Amino acid sequence: MSVLSIRRLPDPILNQPTHLVGRFDAPTQRFIDQMIATMRHHPRCVGLAAPQVGSRLRIAVMDASAHPKAGRTHGLLVLVNPVLGEPEAAEIRREGCLSIPAFTGDVRRATRVHLRAQDREGQAYERRLEGFEAVVAQHEVDHLNGKLFLDRVANLATDVFRRKTYL
Ligand code: NI
Repeated sequence: MSVLSIRRLPDPILNQPTHLVGRFDAPTQRFIDQMIATMRHHPRCVGLAAPQVGSRLRIAVMDASAHPKAGRTHGLLVLVNPVLGEPEAAEIRREGCLSIPAFTGDVRRATRVHLRAQDREGQAYERRLEGFEAVVAQHEVDHLNGKLFLDRVANLATDVFRRKTYL
């Protein structure tokens, strides 16, 4: 399975909204598989959204389980046409992004959300996400709406940090 190249800031596709997916045909499923392979290829990468690999389809993949902060998770999730609702609680956590490799940022996110989405085959499903996994889902759905974590930090001067390497 080929690994897709990552679009980085300031690539304009990262700021554009995505289109709902209507077909779950072989090319769509192959693209999802390539997204999963690309996420797995990058050490400690816990999520990837289609705009990050140059597509405007409303698709993200995530797997928070590999991350030391994760706690209990649902493992691999394929998010096609995802909708997040019922946000509860909130806390500030440090986030990074493959598309912004030089920085991390402190972002306020809900710590519980309800996810509705379709899977690789188009089957609708729902999950309740908590903690780190809930944060990853919010980060990825933001990508699908053309938003990056830099758009979410309260103060660019004090809440963004330079780093030498990704994670
Ligand atoms: Ni990201």
